[in-house]
Amino acid sequence: MVNISTLKTTPAAHAPVHPLGYGPLHGPRRNEHIVVVLGVGPGLGLSIASVFAAQGYTTAILSRSKERLDQWAQELDTVARARLEQDGECPAKDEPLSLAFACDMLEQSTIHGAMQAIQNAWPKRYIGTCAYNGSIRKRGPFLDIPFHKIEESVAASIFAFFTFAQLTLRAMDKHGMGGSLLVTGASSSTRGAEGFAPFAAAKSIAREFGEKNVHVAHIIIDGLVESKTALQYLGLPADERFEDGVLAKTWLFLAQQDQSAWTFELDIRPAKEKF
Ligand SMILES: NC(=O)c1ccc[n+]([C@@H]2O[C@H](COP(=O)([O-])OP(=O)(O)OC[C@H]3O[C@@H](n4cnc5c(N)ncnc54)[C@H](OP(=O)(O)O)[C@@H]3O)[C@@H](O)[C@H]2O)c1
Repeated sequence: MVNISTLKTTPAAHAPVHPLGYGPLHGPRRNEHIVVVLGVGPGLGLSIASVFAAQGYTTAILSRSKERLDQWAQELDTVARARLEQDGECPAKDEPLSLAFACDMLEQSTIHGAMQAIQNAWPKRYIGTCAYNGSIRKRGPFLDIPFHKIEESVAASIFAFFTFAQLTLRAMDKHGMGGSLLVTGASSSTRGAEGFAPFAAAKSIAREFGEKNVHVAHIIIDGLVESKTALQYLGLPADERFEDGVLAKTWLFLAQQDQSAWTFELDIRPAKEKF
């Protein structure tokens, strides 16, 4: 017997079809689902965490700047709490709905430590949606790149992702409810532009764990993500934060996709980007 499945055009009998942004996430139920984002800065990382918090999900945010993360975690907690209350659920006041964890992608032990700390912080919840948003972008002419630069770039985009993927997939394997592993990529995932050699060499990782009920998707961003630095570079007024998660909505969409029609790789670019 050949093991194939079909792309469904109609929902199973009686199953509700939720409009985008309103369905539950693939994996554990909302009140026991943890969304983990590694590589959280004021740009895409925080925006990804925010779209999930706005749906009432518990978020764990990871990067090196713990103090900055702590402030954002408080905001994410408030947002998630408001959403749950709006839906008639009353989360316990002493149980945080978002926490910050210090983690340096270049130190494997800190990734292990942060993942363990997440499980310890919410012993009755399960890791369900994981976003790997970290990368270290090193630019420069190929012949001028010192070895330690390529080492760091590869360590951030390949070794750290490998560890993050192993730990998160193991957690999902253990609870057996599935989940999503969403990996942020860039144009360099598929083609290295001039001056981006270290970055390109380190990208392009996406694996399918479909049989274990885990959705792994690779999102290639082909363009400049709006940030203070990007706006300054373009000579536009600088703003610290995304307003409404325009870009991050794609992460939510992926984590909500029905198992019968999963996206494994997609690219996103502004309408006016050349490609
Ligand atoms: N920005 C763009 O134009 C652009 C374009 C295409 C693709 N991307 C992709 O988008 C992702 C980043 O999004 P973003 O640019 O908007 O950045 P962001 O989410 O605002 O910030 C990423 C954060 O990663 C953290 N980080 C850096 N090195 C780290 C390390 N060694 N260990 C742990 N965390 C570390 C930094 O926080 P700490 O300093 O606190 O550690 C940084 O603020 C990357 O995967 C990148 O390849 C970005």
